Parts: sequence; structure tokens; C-alpha cells
Amino acid sequence: MGICASAPGKAILFGEHAVVYGAPAIAVPLSSIRARATASVTNSPLTIIAEDLARPPLTIEAVDLDLADPLALMSRLTMRHLGVASLTGEIRLRSDIPIASGLGSGAAVSAALGRAIARLSGKVIGDDDLSRLVFEVEKLHHGTPSGIDNAVVAREKPLYFVKDRPIEVIGIGAPLWLIVADTGIASPTRDAVSAVRSLRQRQPKRTARTFDEIGEIVRAARTCLERGAAAPLGALMTANHHLLQSLAVSSRELDWLVEAALGAGALGAKLSGGGRGGNIIALADGDSAESIGRALLEAGAKRVTMTVAGAGPHHDDDID
Ligand code: MEV
Repeated sequence: MGICASAPGKAILFGEHAVVYGAPAIAVPLSSIRARATASVTNSPLTIIAEDLARPPLTIEAVDLDLADPLALMSRLTMRHLGVASLTGEIRLRSDIPIASGLGSGAAVSAALGRAIARLSGKVIGDDDLSRLVFEVEKLHHGTPSGIDNAVVAREKPLYFVKDRPIEVIGIGAPLWLIVADTGIASPTRDAVSAVRSLRQRQPKRTARTFDEIGEIVRAARTCLERGAAAPLGALMTANHHLLQSLAVSSRELDWLVEAALGAGALGAKLSGGGRGGNIIALADGDSAESIGRALLEAGAKRVTMTVAGAGPHHDDDID
């Protein structure tokens, strides 16, 4: 018997970094790039095989299991949450979300694994519980995560997120054409978050002002999103990018792709996620999305994904 479970990648539309310090942020799921877990019943103690990574299989009941390993911690936390002391079976993990690129790869792998363990145990895990468990694992990846990645990946809906407040699902007023373009440069979120932390220690007043300005952009963006006002939304994205530049989390390659998107007619563009590498997102009107995607590839993007957020059932395409 085979059991399949999965979770999507994510893109932060507005508010990354400032969200760690209490500002609001907005994120959407990227449903076409996913982490997948395939579970099968065996007679042996639960074993996890990460097919994309060169690492030995992980036996979850091993007494010397290293709980600083995200897969080990997620497995143990899920079993404890479900009240399962011992489990047999095998779970194979695969992900097409690039690692360390700001698209939620770690959170999606944890969420897919948690869902597969629940199903292998014959139990159900709700999205809120799953999000809470993934958050514990995110602390290994990020140090001080805000919780936005686990929230959007577990719920697979556009979210307005404020740390430690109830999560709000956003209604998007008109379909939103988003282009996600990868610099191909891996950049662990932990490093970018800790660079912002030290900037904040060195320049507390200036950083606080920047976080406030980002918060204002996010609140205005929510109204635009709900009304389906794409042009002002694009301008807010670009303004958010400039504030992220002033937090020193952009890079030459990210700025280059943002400029290429704007030069090709995007309504707005910004880095998305931790920054210093990883991805940009650009907002397009429906007619120009393809040509902006091509311009980004010509400008050196290693991969371009188009997604239409808020268009009913999610729909994404890769451009080759
Ligand atoms: C990472 O996707 C977003 C950051 O704001 C970190 C976090 O919120 O935990 C950079």
C-alpha cells in the first residue's frame, strides 16, 4: 500500500524580516513546487529516506537519534503529538523546491513528513497542529523564525500574518500574476536573519523606522490585494524591495533581476524570503507575464515559475 502526502513552497509577497520583529507580512503558497512524502507499510521500525540528499536512511526509533536533525525532530514531534509510541514503515521524501532559496523548502519537507507519519499511523493531523510542529523544526533552520513559513505551507492559502496573533486568510480580489525568478545562489535564511539582527543592534533607531515603513506598506498592500488593485500593489512591492536593500539583505544578482523585471514591464518586483540570494518575485498583468518571464531568463535567472494567486484552484507553470 502506498500513501502520498505533500506540502507546497511559498513566496513572501510583503514584509519579510520586519515580520520577525512584529510587523505584518503577506505570503502565498506556490502550489506547483512541492515537497512529497511517499509512505509504505513494512515490518521494520519507521525509516525515513531523503531521496534528494546524499545521506543514510534515518531510523526514527534509534536510541542515539540526533534531534538536531530536522527530519528526526519532525518525526519524533509528530509521533508524540499523535500519541504513537512506536511505528513501522518507510517514508521516502522528495522535493522540487530549491533549498535555501527563500521558497519554504524546509517547512514544506517537514509538513509533508508530518502528514505522511499521521496517515501511516491511521490518524489525522489538522493544519494548525501541523503548523505548530513545523514551527518547532523551523527553529533549527532559522534560529528565530517568525512562524510565517510554517503557517502558509501548512494551510496552503494566502495569509496576512503577524507573529503571535491569530492567522488571517486573505481574499484576493482579482487574479494576481506572479513570476518567481531564481538567482541560483543558495542563501540560508538563518544567515540573513542574523545579519538583520546585528544591523538592528548596531542601528536600532534606523532599523525600527524601516520596520515601521515596511509595516505600512504591508497594510496598504492588503487593501490593494483585497480590492484586486494590481498597479498600486506593484508599486508597493518595489518600495518594499528598496527598504529591504536598506536592511542589506539584497544582492547584486537580486537587484539585477528586479531591474530586469521592471524593465520588461512588471508592475513591481522585489526579493522574496531571506534574501542575499534565492528568488525575486515580480507582478505582471496577464498579457505581459510570459515576456517578463523570458526577460528574466535572458537576464540570467536560473529558473522561472509563473503562478496565478487568487484564481480559484491554484495553477502554476514552469518556463523552460
Ligand atoms: C523567511 O521566509 C522570512 C523571514 O522573514 C524569516 C522569518 O519570518 O522567519 C526572513
